[in-house]
Amino acid sequence: MTHPAATDRPTKTILRALAGEVQAVPPVWMMRQAGRYLPEYRATRAQAGDFLSLCYNPELAAEVTLQPIRRYGFDAAILFADILLLPQALGADLWFVTGEGPRLSTITGPKDLAALKPVDVIHETLNPVYQTLRILSGALPRETTLIGFAGAPWTVATYMVAGRGTKDQGPAHKLKDEQPAVFDALMERITLGTIEYLSAQVEAGAEVIKLFDSWAGSLKGDDFDRYALEPARRIITALKARHPGVPVIAFPREAGARYIGFARATGADCVALDNSVSADWAAQKVQVDGCVQGNLAPGHMVTGGAPLVEETRRIVRAFKGGPHIFNLGHGITPDADPDNVARMIEAVRG
Ligand code: CP3
Repeated sequence: MTHPAATDRPTKTILRALAGEVQAVPPVWMMRQAGRYLPEYRATRAQAGDFLSLCYNPELAAEVTLQPIRRYGFDAAILFADILLLPQALGADLWFVTGEGPRLSTITGPKDLAALKPVDVIHETLNPVYQTLRILSGALPRETTLIGFAGAPWTVATYMVAGRGTKDQGPAHKLKDEQPAVFDALMERITLGTIEYLSAQVEAGAEVIKLFDSWAGSLKGDDFDRYALEPARRIITALKARHPGVPVIAFPREAGARYIGFARATGADCVALDNSVSADWAAQKVQVDGCVQGNLAPGHMVTGGAPLVEETRRIVRAFKGGPHIFNLGHGITPDADPDNVARMIEAVRG
């Protein structure tokens, strides 16, 4: 199926930015825009019972995806799901500890790897996610772009190896260095699973795909090329071969200088910038290759006030010479004030 963006000139603001168009007002959405800072999200999550039950309930997952669209009129809706659903579909145990985060069964050697399921059975688990996308395709305002997503293989592997989030991704680095064959086989399984997962998301109605490599910043030198850049390039190439023209946003978080050339090297249509890089630097070094997304520090959604407005305007100005999608540098946090989100959007559009 050829993606509409490949043939027609897109009308939706996000698709126009991803096609390289410079817009006077950049489109805006927010990482974790459906989340705990919203009382309506907390109510729906309570109705579902817990976070994972919410992810696998298509009606309720579609409902929480729509909540920030109704409240703020963001230009994009991002599928409500999690990057850790794919490991679960590959056979990992997954649960969430309130106040702490995800827990998974660990991958420490060849036995754990052999116990994982083959890639072709993932849809049995992930079908509800595709159903959520089908519901959203019919329910979103016509101007709103629907974004599907997955974790990039390195980031997903860090959770599968350690069984939880880690500060320095130590366990994944250790497995990569001490049992490279096991680690590479794990990366391969995740890469192939991600291609199948994202293809199914596009078939179910995702108009744009985002690849989250939240821990790319801990990969240095050749490791960055091998475990961040190369898997992203393979996934994007395979996805676009099946769905010509589907735009992809890559987020190699905290890549620093390695943001330069990342889009060109991987075939991504846009790179999402975290807030550790300056917008002026990124405009010169990264936006020269095409669309960038970002990069307001999420803390402003907690602290608000004049700095929020000034910083938002400064970022819009810095990127105004090229294609830009306004976003935060990382997800909005549960302690954010919902009024500050409205102020940010006003500062972008006003
Ligand atoms: O952005 C969105 O609104 C779409 C949904 C979405 C979630 N997670 C929902 C979620 C997306 C795109 C993600 C991506 C994700 N999940 C990433 C990559 C982006 C990033 O934040 O770096 C990662 C690393 C995960 C794994 C994950 N899920 C962690 C580490 C946690 C615990 C930390 C936390 O914020 O609680 C989650 C839980 C999670 N995923 C929540 C939400 C709304 C909170 C769960 C709850 O309601 O209690």
